[in-house]
Amino acid sequence: MSAFLEGKRAIVTGAGSGVGRVSARRFAEEGARVVCADIQADTAKDTVREIEEAGGTGVAVACDVSNEDDVVAMIATTVEQFGGLDIIFNNVGIPTPRLGALFEDHTVEEFDRLVAVNLRGVFLGCKHAVLQFKKQGTGGVILNTGSVAGLVGWGGTPYGATKGGVHQITRGIAVECAPFGIRSNAICPAAMPFTNFMAAGGLEVDEAALEGIAEHVGAGHPLGRPITAEDCAEAAVYLVSDRAANVTGVLLPVDGGYVAR
Ligand SMILES: NC(=O)c1ccc[n+]([C@@H]2O[C@H](COP(=O)([O-])OP(=O)(O)OC[C@H]3O[C@@H](n4cnc5c(N)ncnc54)[C@H](O)[C@@H]3O)[C@@H](O)[C@H]2O)c1
Repeated sequence: MSAFLEGKRAIVTGAGSGVGRVSARRFAEEGARVVCADIQADTAKDTVREIEEAGGTGVAVACDVSNEDDVVAMIATTVEQFGGLDIIFNNVGIPTPRLGALFEDHTVEEFDRLVAVNLRGVFLGCKHAVLQFKKQGTGGVILNTGSVAGLVGWGGTPYGATKGGVHQITRGIAVECAPFGIRSNAICPAAMPFTNFMAAGGLEVDEAALEGIAEHVGAGHPLGRPITAEDCAEAAVYLVSDRAANVTGVLLPVDGGYVAR
């Protein structure tokens, strides 16, 4: 069977860790050339090294997705290096800086930062990808990382509000850009304790505590285990591939059945 993404030119944001890193590796394994973008340039370089060691092609780019100039430069680099863009996976997302904080305890600065990275970042990635896709005239694929926190009242209210916005951008583009052959979908993961997301939310725990958290999280999912970056990457590979050619506007929970309860 042929590879899912042979010949595709892709960008993955947040490629230095978690879902982004595993997805970038999987896209490359499936034949894509991948720009690995992250605000932490060193981690993006590590991902590229892993891709190259496995025989694939990757390019590391330092990019803050909340900064329009950075996003424009990221797409320009992709076009320079690979001759065009077929797929953008807008995967970056940050948690509330104090995981577990009550809605009313969030400061305006914390709220604004969540919106800047999680929502403006996806807006910018989608906007400049659509401009590039329309210039090329051959369609294109957008995949965004939403969250179950944008589907149900769980996971932090300001964070969930940014993800609800991501879901709406995803669906709006699916309808508006369908005449141009552009597809737009989102994956909506439930809690993934094994990425660096919890640490980004100020929750540093040792391995034993992490296992306990993972067990607790898994018990809340009908399928009985927590979500992994690998679970998300497999869904991502399908959604960005031509095998999903008639699938657009979908918010796919990767959640072990959490929102189906
Ligand atoms: N981990 C979870 O429990 C969980 C649950 C649901 C959804 N999500 C979503 O999944 C996605 C991936 O999360 P993860 O768990 O892999 O997190 P992670 O913290 O492991 O990885 C996030 C990556 O994004 C990068 N990043 C942060 N801010 C950036 C910016 N402004 N510009 C560019 N890069 C930036 C980080 O350096 C890091 O490499 C996010 O959108 C997150 O909101 C995570």
